[in-house]
Amino acid sequence: MRPSVDHDSGLTYATYLRLPHVLDQQRCRSSPPAHDELLFITVHQVYELWFKVLLFELSNARDRMLDGDAYRARLRLRRCHEIERVLVNQIDVVDTMTPHGFLEFRGALGSSSGFQSAQFREIEFLSGADDNGWLDRAAWLSAEDHQRLSLRLAEPDLWDAFITLLAVAGLSVGTPRQRAAAFHEIAVGDDRYNGLWELSEALIEHDQLWSIWRLRHQMTVMRQLGGKPGTGGSTGSGYLAERVPLKFYPELWDARSCFGQPDDGRPAAGARP
Ligand code: HEM
Repeated sequence: MRPSVDHDSGLTYATYLRLPHVLDQQRCRSSPPAHDELLFITVHQVYELWFKVLLFELSNARDRMLDGDAYRARLRLRRCHEIERVLVNQIDVVDTMTPHGFLEFRGALGSSSGFQSAQFREIEFLSGADDNGWLDRAAWLSAEDHQRLSLRLAEPDLWDAFITLLAVAGLSVGTPRQRAAAFHEIAVGDDRYNGLWELSEALIEHDQLWSIWRLRHQMTVMRQLGGKPGTGGSTGSGYLAERVPLKFYPELWDARSCFGQPDDGRPAAGARP
């Protein structure tokens, strides 16, 4: 059967995708015009579009976990991993800029900075990161963004949802010690925990890819700026280097130190095929 097409709607590729609007949003500010500014604006806009999709998928992964559906939560996270790989690789395009090419328009950025990205921070909050006072200092946010981020902090994050799922599966998760035992159980225990183990691995991968992005971005910043401070007021690559090792799920990482230890009386690490 041929797909039915509604010719009467007059919808075209350009109108469906709202291309005239989208393609009109890259407004360079440098004067005289700097060759690399179009690339810089476009790359950041593409990141923000992917951030939007990530928020949609991660929220759904969280909701599926809260519904007790580990399979669909993992499916959503798998898509997020692929998007995150795109985000990591995409920064290679930024590296085609020379530091001098960047300096030709850096002044036009004023005090704006990726540090102010509301969606980036929202992804971190939804993933389980602490606010660390960021929201109180974020005077640049619109009232709408501020409210959205406050709500994100108040609602369950991916970690809360995962722990809920473990509890529903009958595992004790009230204390860090109990959770460590639960992670061990899903790693090497009964086969009925396979789905939870796969899900915990999907969370680890999300965490890992986010750290890789932080590192990759910090390298680009070193390459472009050396030791210069950022437009957002930080020390620049020094500040970013401190952010690289942050983890959304430290307990899942720590649990690995105990896998296969002699006193746990269980099979050695890694466990599942
Ligand atoms: C020439 C390329 C780039 C340079 C020189 C650069 C520079 C910086 C600097 C110095 C900071 C620290 C905050 C500050 O003081 O401004 C920062 C933070 C940040 N930048 Fe970039 N950046 C570049 C490209 C990008 C791209 C392509 C993105 C994609 C969205 C991005 C997103 C971010 C984010 C999200 C932060 C906050 C990181 C955090 O707080 O953990 N940056 N950037």
